[in-house]
Amino acid sequence: MTLEATTETTRDAAARAVDLRKSYGSGDSEVHALDGVSVEFERGAFTAIMGPSGSGKSTLMHCLAALDAPTAGRVVVDGTDVGSLNDKALTALRRERIGFVFQAFNLIPTLTARENILLPLDLAGTKPDKGWFDTVIEAVGLADRLGHRPAQMSGGQQQRVACARALASRPAIVFADEPTGNLDSASGAEVLAFLRRSVDEFGQTVVMVTHDAIAASYCDRVIFLADGLIVDELDRPTRDDILAHMTALQDAALKTKAATDGTGT
Ligand SMILES: Nc1ncnc2c1ncn2[C@@H]1O[C@H](COP(=O)(O)OP(=O)(O)O)[C@@H](O)[C@H]1O
Ligand SMILES: [Mg+2]
Repeated sequence: MTLEATTETTRDAAARAVDLRKSYGSGDSEVHALDGVSVEFERGAFTAIMGPSGSGKSTLMHCLAALDAPTAGRVVVDGTDVGSLNDKALTALRRERIGFVFQAFNLIPTLTARENILLPLDLAGTKPDKGWFDTVIEAVGLADRLGHRPAQMSGGQQQRVACARALASRPAIVFADEPTGNLDSASGAEVLAFLRRSVDEFGQTVVMVTHDAIAASYCDRVIFLADGLIVDELDRPTRDDILAHMTALQDAALKTKAATDGTGT
């Protein structure tokens, strides 16, 4: 691809990674969690990241969300080169332009749903946009739960609070790491429907790590990671397309492992 073409396609990405590398440890025990990942996330799209356990999904997402620093390569979020920021600017970027949803909800137990949702804005010293707050609360179905603390809510309700919190600042991009991993399928479907709606109706950009082909089938695009590299991609996939790709990748990984084990090491 020419430089011109690269510039053209990356201009309006919500986030992108360029030749991203992340290593842990050193010498014989060095692990290349990311081994040169370049990817961009178009605005207003819902993307899934899939791949076997240990393939680098969480590392990629943490680097993209500026929660972790890469060993090499660049991350650009909403037009800002993350590596160029000092700590203060990085904190502001995380609070104002990035939303994050964790598998384990990560709500503050002593705060009500409303207080949890508004916490990032409070920390940033900004007031919520009333219209946007009401829109998000309505969409996530929490209007009658705003005074409840996390312990008074089901897992599905807690994760919907976490989704509302991620969206409260109207961020440029929302990252979700296995957001349905701790939920039963009905609660998971509610969370996925909300994320889908936030993209379709509110123009949000969402990137989600998932193991689940049903969850990934809510997405516009699926990216497959293996051994720290993007190995495949699907656009507008069906659940069957996704399952077939997952099976092929698992088989390839098992063959590689068998070949490695067979060398007598
Ligand atoms: N803090 C860490 N220290 C050492 N190795 C790590 C650390 N975090 C991740 N890894 C290793 O990096 C690789 C990718 O991990 P991760 O991104 O968590 O994969 P995934 O989310 O796809 O399961 C794995 O081999 C994992 O063991
Ligand atoms: Mg992970």
